[in-house]
Amino acid sequence: MTGRFITLEGGDGAGKTTQAELLSAWLVGHGRTVLRTREPGGTDLGVRIREMVLHERGHVAPRAEALLYAADRAQHVETVVRPALARDEVVLQDRYIDSSVAYQGVGRGLGADQIRSVSTWAADGLAPDLTILLDLDVTVGRARVAAARGDTFDRLESEAGAFHQSVRDAFRAMADAEPGRFLVVDAAESTDEVQRRIRAAVAPLVEVDPA
Ligand code: TYD
Repeated sequence: MTGRFITLEGGDGAGKTTQAELLSAWLVGHGRTVLRTREPGGTDLGVRIREMVLHERGHVAPRAEALLYAADRAQHVETVVRPALARDEVVLQDRYIDSSVAYQGVGRGLGADQIRSVSTWAADGLAPDLTILLDLDVTVGRARVAAARGDTFDRLESEAGAFHQSVRDAFRAMADAEPGRFLVVDAAESTDEVQRRIRAAVAPLVEVDPA
């Protein structure tokens, strides 16, 4: 068994957490050790960065925002993700570099290439083996977040519809550019169907039978 790094991406309300939990339980049932984690906030330092970047009340300069996500990532990759991969675990992570490219690079207009380069430096070059993109209409995603949490949106979720549409388009463009790394799943399908598609793609990677 070898360590595998699997990331989940997509807009808010696409169901990443639910799908990751189901996938994790299935992998554990097949004898794999799984580390479930997320960015921002996958370390003690990252929890504090997450609070700053998502709940700061005043203006946060877009470049400061981008560097806070990058700092969170640097701490997380070095102290959590790489050690788990070295122990041959499956790391199942909500959001990674592609989120920075979509939200800061494209959504904030800082430049996709520059943000990918800063993020890749922060992660010291660690790339996922597989990235699952849960693709969903932005108004549907937003309605799901509102239904789950009421009107308590964080700083990113509070952005206008056009911002979230540009984020969705950016994720889809990344998937088109790197079809070997991405699995794109229509997140409007039922939870079971989305999970079935994910398992079919993950099974060969983690050396388990999809049945
Ligand atoms: P997430 O943990 O998915 O939100 P929640 O737990 O509230 O569902 O992500 C938090 C927000 O951070 C999300 O709106 C996307 C944003 N984000 C970025 O803008 N850039 C990044 O690099 C990352 C990792 C997340």
